[in-house]
Amino acid sequence: MSHAVEINKLSRHFGSFKAVDEISLTVSHGEIFGFLGANGAGKTTAIRMLCGLLLPTGGNGTVAGCDIMKEPEKIKTKIGYMSQKFSLYGELTGRENINFYGSVYGMNKREISSRIDELTEKLQLQDLLHRQSHSLPVGWRQRLALAVALLHQPKIIFLDEPTGGVDPIFRRKFWSTLYDLGEEGITIFVTTHYMDEAEYCGRISIMHQGKIVEMGKPFDLVARHKAENLEQMFIGLINERGSSGA
Ligand SMILES: Nc1ncnc2c1ncn2[C@@H]1O[C@H](COP(=O)(O)OP(=O)(O)OP(=O)(O)O)[C@@H](O)[C@H]1O
Ligand SMILES: [Mg+2]
Repeated sequence: MSHAVEINKLSRHFGSFKAVDEISLTVSHGEIFGFLGANGAGKTTAIRMLCGLLLPTGGNGTVAGCDIMKEPEKIKTKIGYMSQKFSLYGELTGRENINFYGSVYGMNKREISSRIDELTEKLQLQDLLHRQSHSLPVGWRQRLALAVALLHQPKIIFLDEPTGGVDPIFRRKFWSTLYDLGEEGITIFVTTHYMDEAEYCGRISIMHQGKIVEMGKPFDLVARHKAENLEQMFIGLINERGSSGA
């Protein structure tokens, strides 16, 4: 398997609207890849295709060596996904949520329980396992959602705005965990609107109106655009290209 993610001219049209318009990229194993773009740029739509949840209308590619067009079900078993929207059952405790998703992945009770022990240590889940998910602070819920995404030991995880609405302390801790996962060789494909987080990524791409308009190492992009920092580069790039009036 050459790359964790490899896509070529991947598109998703909704009627005549091109939500994702011929995007191409490769992500190496163990890379932390940041997927940036303004609201409505097409990031979630692209991620859903990469996770085998939405069929593309054009292009091709592989995720974890599986064909996006032909093997979306196989992809689902090999990747972890943390969706932009809250995906846990609020009335279930942390442990019950993990048990539920573990059974969806076909894991038996013993496997789930030993995995919970491992993840509790790695992600500091001890205080949230016995609490109903809706009662948890946002930062804790995100940690639980990350645990669920990692449950079946995927080699690639897709995190769609995992730190939206999370305070800076939790965000820093969350990213330190992502770094540890990266060190273990897990590939992380992550969207964010926070420029400090974008700086933590090995490479980033910037999406605008369905297209990838820039890609590279964060500081190479800053230099290429003669900007002072990533935020200035990002805003300059998007303004330069104009908006559709959104
Ligand atoms: N099922 C759908 N039918 C029609 N249009 C859709 C559908 N899903 C998404 N879109 C449109 O595609 C565009 C891209 O949406 P998407 O959610 O992928 O953006 P995003 O980059 O994730 O934005 P955000 O940063 O706000 O999460 C939006 O204009 C959205 O309204
Ligand atoms: Mg989105």
